[in-house]
Amino acid sequence: MLTFVQFAFGMRRVAVTWLLTAVALVSSAPGIAQDKAASGPIAVCVECHGNDGVGYKAGIPHLNGQPIPLLTNMLSSYREGKRPTKVKFHKDIPAADVGALAKHYAEQKAQRPKSATKPDLIARGEPLFSNRCADCHVDSGRDSDKEAPLMAGQDVDYLVAQTLAFKSGERKFPYLMDKAYKDLSDDDLTAIAHYFASQDQVAQQQGRKRRR
Ligand code: HEC
Ligand code: HEC
Repeated sequence: MLTFVQFAFGMRRVAVTWLLTAVALVSSAPGIAQDKAASGPIAVCVECHGNDGVGYKAGIPHLNGQPIPLLTNMLSSYREGKRPTKVKFHKDIPAADVGALAKHYAEQKAQRPKSATKPDLIARGEPLFSNRCADCHVDSGRDSDKEAPLMAGQDVDYLVAQTLAFKSGERKFPYLMDKAYKDLSDDDLTAIAHYFASQDQVAQQQGRKRRR
């Protein structure tokens, strides 16, 4: 068999094929093994965000599938101190690496693990979402307008913290989001965060809910 392949495609082609197979096997190995294999600027990120963008524990956001401009924007905000962060690594990202890191995580298609969301909070959050947030956090947070992040299937602890961070002033409201927040209580906002987190990350084939 090998002799035939060598004959048909030539030695070099076979060597390349073997090499590619080996690389594919290494990079498709799950979990830690894959993360340890990460090199380059991403090596510092995988400990928390994985190579596939899935946060390793509650409170750490999933980054997979976020639009490139959003990730670029966030990383630049961290570097420039415009968005507060508890994570020192975020501030130390070299400007030259921002583009590649954003592209890497934007392209990941991993399945996000389901967060522990509460049914009563989801039910309370849904109409509030529709009335206040759906214009920009389109399709239940699966899509976005005005460079809003995708929030469907995001980690619930992360989302609750960030939703309240705008209200407390820790994070600066983007354009017009402050109007959407008007008169909402912390409990309302927590409920909306549970609603976002409970949503499937990818749209169902049929039965998409429309607001109007
Ligand atoms: C020690 C764990 C840890 C490491 C290492 C880490 N992060 Fe984070 N990341 C977090 C946490 C926690 C947050 C939530 C917000 C915060 O505190 O900044 C976050 C938030 C983010 C966000 C914002 C997501 C959003 O939806 O707004 C981006 C983008 C990000 N990290 C990218 C990176 C990249 C790229 C690296 C590697 C250079 C990295 N992070 C390294 C823990 C980490
Ligand atoms: C006018 C458009 C608009 C409306 C309406 C809006 N948002 Fe946003 N939202 C944005 C944009 C833009 C961002 C990105 C923020 C940034 O760059 O810091 C954002 C970010 C967020 C984030 C941060 C997510 C993350 O991964 O870090 C949360 C949480 C959020 N919005 C919640 C809400 C809630 C809750 C409502 C409704 C009460 C709402 N937003 C209404 C535009 C909007």
